[in-house]
Amino acid sequence: MRRYLISGNWKMNTTRATAVELAKALVSGAAAATDQVDVLIFPPAPYLIPVQDAVAGSAIQVGGQNAYFAAPGAFTGEVALDMLQDIGCESVLVGHSERRHVFGETDELINQKVKAGLEKGFQVVLCVGELIEERQAQQTEAVLDRQMAGGLAGVSAEQMASIVIAYEPVWAIGTGHTASPEQAESAHAHLRSWLTSHYNAQVAEATRILYGGSVKASNAAELLGQPNVDGALVGGASLKAADFLPIIEAGVNAAG
Ligand code: 13P
Repeated sequence: MRRYLISGNWKMNTTRATAVELAKALVSGAAAATDQVDVLIFPPAPYLIPVQDAVAGSAIQVGGQNAYFAAPGAFTGEVALDMLQDIGCESVLVGHSERRHVFGETDELINQKVKAGLEKGFQVVLCVGELIEERQAQQTEAVLDRQMAGGLAGVSAEQMASIVIAYEPVWAIGTGHTASPEQAESAHAHLRSWLTSHYNAQVAEATRILYGGSVKASNAAELLGQPNVDGALVGGASLKAADFLPIIEAGVNAAG
């Protein structure tokens, strides 16, 4: 039985004060929910520590939006996995579409980050998803296959226990155009069958596959109700407790 994971990617948003305020509102609003679903937030790097302080003692988890795979050293502007670990982060987001398409991250770089994260004991949330022109050209499954094979190259079946996949169709991110529940389910089912053929049925059954892309309180229940949707990776609607708490609640209802 896969446990739902409701996660919030704050991207390059919030101030120190609003980040702490949001985290505190989640602690009080989601206390009961975390008995039944996992809640994981990804604040901007400078606010990781104050947000961790704000959620201390609660079950809300805090992860890094990105990290570089190399050991600490001369990599100006980057954050090392060791640094995330040093401040107590246990999860890291890798391969988000904005990293791929704004910052030019390749499957090879993403794979280095995935492997380094696993070696250090992180839960790695690997994002995959097609562009609108790829979907229109019926390339969705081929793109997902390429991103899965590239991102997970050299990752063992045992290590897959620490991987979460997030399906985020790029055309649905920040656009208000959510994938329909059928489109999400079809992509998720494809990803799960990829896991069966490249690993085994047990890995496929155990791996959580989140949906991301314009998830809101009004569509969360239907998306989370799909058999192969095991959670959500929420952007815009994770920036206000009043928007994010009902999505967590939809996860609780789907789990129950
Ligand atoms: P939106 O929910 O704002 O579409 O963003 C989704 C996303 O990119 C989460 O990582």
